[in-house]
Amino acid sequence: MTRRFTEPRLVVATHNKGKLAELRALLGSHPVELVTAGELGLPEPDETETTFVGNARIKAHAAAKASGLPALADDSGIACNGLDGAPGVYSANWAGPGKDFRPAMARVVGELVQRFGSFEAADRSAAFVSCLCLAWPDGHDEVVEAKVTGMLVPQPRGSHGFGYDPIFVPDGQVQTFAEMAPATKNALSHRTRAFALLKERCFNQT
Ligand code: IMP
Repeated sequence: MTRRFTEPRLVVATHNKGKLAELRALLGSHPVELVTAGELGLPEPDETETTFVGNARIKAHAAAKASGLPALADDSGIACNGLDGAPGVYSANWAGPGKDFRPAMARVVGELVQRFGSFEAADRSAAFVSCLCLAWPDGHDEVVEAKVTGMLVPQPRGSHGFGYDPIFVPDGQVQTFAEMAPATKNALSHRTRAFALLKERCFNQT
């Protein structure tokens, strides 16, 4: 059965301040104290699963177990249909330790060209996927997943956003995510959609 969140404190299993701010905005006036895994000194578990859901669950359950509090984790990435879903859960890894997404985007385009003969001939459809897992110390969890579908472009365009935003045009739009104002991207994004699903399922409407 679906469990609603009623506790006073929630661990956010991230070391990323941007994600914390997004979550704060999502929860609106819901009365909950947010504390990050970093603040509690919790170790970051290895993301050993091959699905977004699997990795979000690893992170949320590890934080819930170690802290004794409910914990929320997310896992996200871009799945390119012409590459059988790659880079998928390895989206961050493709940028290397320096987190440089220019070579990662060039690799996406290069692998499509290699596989299909040219970029024009390639299946350019792709989706950004966001999975959220809310886990409790007793092992119960609630998982949601959302995506935004779109098409890849061969040359990066735009300077907003991060990651693969410059090569992704969401369906129904002409600009890449990186060409859009951040608020426009956020209104369409996979993360916003996943947060909305979780809020509807587990948090009071505020
Ligand atoms: P993680 O969810 O923190 O593991 O990040 C996964 C990776 O997916 C990020 O490092 C980005 O490369 C990519 N990614 C996830 N969401 C977005 C997005 O909204 N725009 C661009 N890249 C994204």
